[in-house]
Amino acid sequence: MTTVDKPSMGFGRMHRKEDARFIRGRGTYVDDVRLPGMLHGAVLRSPFAHARIVSIDTRAAEAHPKVKAVITGKTLEGLKLAWMPTLSYDTQAVLATDKVRFQGQEVAFVVAEDKYSARDALELIDVEYEPLPAVVDARRALDPDAPVIRDDKENQNGNHIFDWTAGDKAATDAAFARAEVVVKQDVLYPRVHPAPLETCGALADFDKVTGKLTMWCNTQAPHAHRTVYALVAGLPEHKIRVISPDIGGGFGNKVPIYPGYVCAIVGSIVTGKPVKWMEDRSENLMSTGFARDYHMSGEVAATRDGKITAVRVKVIADHGAFNGTAQPTKYPAGFFHVFTGSYDLEAAHCEVTGVYTNKAPGGVAYACSFRITEAAYLIERLVDVLAFDLGMDPAQLRMKNLLRAEQFPYSSPTGWEYDSGDYPRALQLALDMVGYDEIRREQAAVRERWAAGDRSGTLPGVGISFFTEAVGAGPRKHMDILGLGMADGAELRVHPTGKAVLRISVQSQGQGHETTYAQIVAHELGIPPDDIEVVHGDTDQTPFGLGTYGSRSTPVSGAATAVVARKVRERARLVASAMLEVSADDLEWDGAGRWVVRGSTEQGRTIQEIALAAHSSLELPDGVEGHLDATTVYNPPNLTFPFGAYVCVVDVDPGTGQVKVRRFVAVDDCGVRINPTIVEGQVHGGLADGIGMALMQLIAFDEDGNCLGASFMDYLLPTSVECPSWELGETVTPSPHHPIGAKGVGESATVGSPAAVVNAVVDALKPYGVRHADMPLTPAQVWRVIQGSPLRT
Ligand code: CDP
Repeated sequence: MTTVDKPSMGFGRMHRKEDARFIRGRGTYVDDVRLPGMLHGAVLRSPFAHARIVSIDTRAAEAHPKVKAVITGKTLEGLKLAWMPTLSYDTQAVLATDKVRFQGQEVAFVVAEDKYSARDALELIDVEYEPLPAVVDARRALDPDAPVIRDDKENQNGNHIFDWTAGDKAATDAAFARAEVVVKQDVLYPRVHPAPLETCGALADFDKVTGKLTMWCNTQAPHAHRTVYALVAGLPEHKIRVISPDIGGGFGNKVPIYPGYVCAIVGSIVTGKPVKWMEDRSENLMSTGFARDYHMSGEVAATRDGKITAVRVKVIADHGAFNGTAQPTKYPAGFFHVFTGSYDLEAAHCEVTGVYTNKAPGGVAYACSFRITEAAYLIERLVDVLAFDLGMDPAQLRMKNLLRAEQFPYSSPTGWEYDSGDYPRALQLALDMVGYDEIRREQAAVRERWAAGDRSGTLPGVGISFFTEAVGAGPRKHMDILGLGMADGAELRVHPTGKAVLRISVQSQGQGHETTYAQIVAHELGIPPDDIEVVHGDTDQTPFGLGTYGSRSTPVSGAATAVVARKVRERARLVASAMLEVSADDLEWDGAGRWVVRGSTEQGRTIQEIALAAHSSLELPDGVEGHLDATTVYNPPNLTFPFGAYVCVVDVDPGTGQVKVRRFVAVDDCGVRINPTIVEGQVHGGLADGIGMALMQLIAFDEDGNCLGASFMDYLLPTSVECPSWELGETVTPSPHHPIGAKGVGESATVGSPAAVVNAVVDALKPYGVRHADMPLTPAQVWRVIQGSPLRT
């Protein structure tokens, strides 16, 4: 029995059903899958960031006794697979043919009897390179003398990818012209990596007899991958089965199709055997979808007493060597145009320019809804810079500018319709929880002592961040990925004994979908969650849908689940009317699993009784075929807009630059919470992510494009040592258009927390006159900031 706090028939705290297998070590991850005769693949990667390939000699590798195949770009050219489309309508080399364009790029693929032999044989491949100068700094990529990275593309001049704008430029410029105060700040969101604990991998099994390809792959979007394989490789879609088993974290990293997947498929076709490819940690950090890398210049127009009137932003977006971002087609900068944040502005405008550099492709939404993290970080830094310049308290400044409850639904100056919210209530709760005034008093005392010359001890800092997320991509008329609309299917079948199977298109990477989706059905039908099996992650077993990222599962597939359960409930009503021999109009749902006769509630039938009758010889009314099942496709009318108020308290040691996070208060509003324990777990993880990004994480490169420190020795993950005991609060503002009023939450904390941490550190350093500092605020960076010479990456 998995129910703990109360025998919930719907929403509430419940242990995760899937944990029964996870805590016993009985999960099945890609690397656990072993097939008879299985071979192993390994990828040869480029040591150069930019170099012409002169020749590749594979003879010695082919002669290795355990090697079964060596695949190069030439092999793939013969199959028209040397290049593949990215999810942003660009092209990406599967295996390099002409040039390598980032360090770690895929050059050859060896298939061998075991993974050690495959790796050994990589060293027998002799590649002659002619090194070329590399473009590492996105701000230099458009210089006229910058080397052209994508000379493979016709009509490609220089390293420019796209220009994109949002908002009203004229209105924004006019608001700036009128402004009493204008503040400006360059803000970098450095290149970071989702770094899931399980690296990317696949096991491809092409059956020559049936012509069927079965692909075990830890993808976040199995259906989208299947369609792309069908389109790219010309394989019939019904002969492709993508199975996405248990996944050890995705965070956006497992959305793209990587060359290793395609190579595993080709390896299986060439050898006639299943081929497994699992990347190692360094391969994951060096070559798979990174996140952020946004160079942002922001300006805020305001009145002297702190009313913000307009925001203007310019961004240079570093997309690496291939534009491999995964986001709705219409928005090349993702949802960055939510950069007006949670504030009531007259006007706003942004210009985003995407550029190629000699770095790994990506720009994936690392635990965020398509560039919202960059946007939230920028506006929350800018608000603090304004507070600094005006000498105002950052909490009061936010209170003055936050949208008010009566303004919802709110149309933002860049085209969003925020569905619901009560922002001041959430901020006030966070301030109360942290004891804001008391901490400010403590800080004032330390600063007084400091000013008087006693500079012992640490400096306390308080940072606030208020964020609005836009999650649940998305309405089909606005949003697609590679032409595939972002609607999700759901199928529900209730068996004769009243046990149910729900099939959904989204794929859990650890978020507990098997529990929460069962809870949604339980809430709608009164079937206990333990009696509901949730099937996901297998394209042969589930309806089509676009996958799990951008916290879209609950807003889209969660809604589909509620809708399909309601369809089943309506069907059950007709069956119950036949059972009770009353008109269906005379029945009402009692909210706990029974259709009852209106005014006579003792006369009724449970959903289990109805399920049995639906499969029996009972004569059913016209229009009811029998059985108890339904299908649906849910096309969301809008995104959902969760929000939150975060307050971080830090102690900074100016002697060492060490930052200690003393406290972190997070008030989240994700509408109705299906399972508060799971929501809190999601928030805990996101807050830790935020501390990681703010204080320790950076994928750095030297000037030749060498990726520095692609291992967990250098790319640090926050642990319980760096994290405080999180203090969580909640408000509940249901989404008005979501069937159960839920908003997504998986990424809220990652979006909101970095700004709170950075704002706290900058606040702590106020006695040194510090107004801004770029992440990551490592001890070295903090120390340099204090000396007035911060590093800019
Ligand atoms: O798309 P993803 O699953 O990553 O994000 P999500 O939709 O925000 O959901 C994360 C987890 O939190 C899922 O198990 C949800 O069902 C659960 N959740 C919840 O219990 N209540 C909410 N209001 C939102 C999410």
